[in-house]
Amino acid sequence: MNASTLLRSAVWITAQVRRHEAVLRILARSLLFLSALGAATPPAPQKPKSNNELKAFFQQNCVRCHGQDGSAKDPEGKVLAGRDFTQSAKHFRDLSGPASEREIRAYIRTIQRGILFGFTMPSWKAKLSVEDSTAMVRDILLQAEEGKIIQPEANKPL
Ligand code: HEC
Repeated sequence: MNASTLLRSAVWITAQVRRHEAVLRILARSLLFLSALGAATPPAPQKPKSNNELKAFFQQNCVRCHGQDGSAKDPEGKVLAGRDFTQSAKHFRDLSGPASEREIRAYIRTIQRGILFGFTMPSWKAKLSVEDSTAMVRDILLQAEEGKIIQPEANKPL
């Protein structure tokens, strides 16, 4: 092995190491980027919301599309053109067990995922855990009645 071959090998090895360094740097940056992304979408709060909190949450976040009573028939609910939770509530109560459970799961999924990538309805995953969404469907939406405003009960703490 002469000196120039040695030198060429050394240059080659250095190039490999440096290429590796670049790849490692890119990997490290992607990891940082991903963890930053993760941090930007905080997980749903752990403490389950009470029914009163869920009603307040509905007022703050859902009324503008679903209407004050969930029937989407008041001016606030116009966006939804009368897609009516108060009717679904009746309908669900008439369904037999497994069928209504399936519908309930679909509702929970919709709340978690939103509709059309959040374009039609936002995803509520960051604010409502699956547990909260379940309570929202069972205890709030399916108890909704036309004309009965969904609001926290004043005499109960939030
Ligand atoms: C920006 C408007 C908008 C907001 C805000 C909104 N929704 Fe919706 N939601 C919609 C639309 C549109 C649909 C689809 C209705 C349809 O399929 O006819 C829908 C459907 C749903 C469904 C499924 C109904 C079904 O029959 O499949 C659930 C459950 C639901 N919304 C819950 C909520 C809850 C809970 C909130 C508040 C945390 C909320 N939505 C806030 C627009 C909205």
